[in-house]
Amino acid sequence: MLPCYNHNMHEPKKLVLVTGASGAIGRDYLEEFSELPEFDCVAIARREFETSADNFTFLELDLLDEAKVNESIQTIDFSVYSEVVFIHSVGMFKYEPNGEPSIDNDEDGIDDEVYKTNIETFVNIIKPLYKRMLQSEEGFKLSLYGMGSVSDKHQIKYWQSYTKSKNILRSIIYNLIQENPEQVKGMMFNVSTVDTEKENELRPNAEKTYWLSGKEIAVATLPFIIKGKFGEWKELDIFKNSPLFEDGYYENLSEIRKRWEQQMKQNENPGENIFEEIDGEVATRLFEAKPPLDGPFFKFR
Ligand SMILES: NC(=O)c1ccc[n+]([C@@H]2O[C@H](COP(=O)([O-])OP(=O)(O)OC[C@H]3O[C@@H](n4cnc5c(N)ncnc54)[C@H](OP(=O)(O)O)[C@@H]3O)[C@@H](O)[C@H]2O)c1
Repeated sequence: MLPCYNHNMHEPKKLVLVTGASGAIGRDYLEEFSELPEFDCVAIARREFETSADNFTFLELDLLDEAKVNESIQTIDFSVYSEVVFIHSVGMFKYEPNGEPSIDNDEDGIDDEVYKTNIETFVNIIKPLYKRMLQSEEGFKLSLYGMGSVSDKHQIKYWQSYTKSKNILRSIIYNLIQENPEQVKGMMFNVSTVDTEKENELRPNAEKTYWLSGKEIAVATLPFIIKGKFGEWKELDIFKNSPLFEDGYYENLSEIRKRWEQQMKQNENPGENIFEEIDGEVATRLFEAKPPLDGPFFKFR
């Protein structure tokens, strides 16, 4: 059984589960939540990581191992919590120059690795977690947050597997809210480029002045996580007003391709990198959008 920290008998506690906790975004969520006394924190990743957060439980877990994930969820004593917040910060991106998946054994048009890391990692947790919520006498509530991209609404063909996967994730969260509006709430946080290890590897020649940091995302979204209403579905864009994204940018496929291929070139002269420190004001845009309803409608009853 997982230990629970700082219990105050008079205040029902909340639990936050953060996946991708070893990545830049997940780690910053963990660090923000570990400062809030009403929350116990569980961090999930496949490897240990450095963090300034203390007072959290680490679950070393491969989220693609369904049986192990199920077993781990069963070790949590949910009866002491009024609410479980699940922040899913895992999901591979692939650039697809021909608009087609590079690995697609099930021929669904979505790259298998992109699908697995974005969707199966989420579903493997939500299945046992949702079941526990329905079975729990105390009736804890569930708050679900997925990380999408600001580009998801534009269906860019060069990362169509990623956008389709994020849309399935939207549908799953949306459908769970529709199924149980008294007990479930959730949002999709659509971010612009983030200063993560993977993004730096993918685009070594990108200028990062207007990239977001994990901390900026965690700080900007925290009030929405804390104050959101049950039964409600909304999306939040988080971005910086970069002059590189003039109106119509996402409609101009040849410009997108040109810019990306320039940014992805391996730099033989690292001294000539155009990297800048990240800067700029964080902006948010809250909106209500019905997600495409083509995602699986999970029935766990
Ligand atoms: N970076 C961006 O610019 C950007 C933009 C828009 C949206 N997003 C979204 O934001 C989220 C986080 O981004 P990111 O770039 O940090 O994502 P990421 O590359 O998927 O990595 C996040 C963490 O996920 C963990 N992870 C991967 N596979 C796992 C598995 N099978 N089981 C358990 N943990 C696993 C990894 O930790 P371990 O190796 O320790 O397991 C890694 O530290 C993702 O959903 C991504 O799609 C990112």
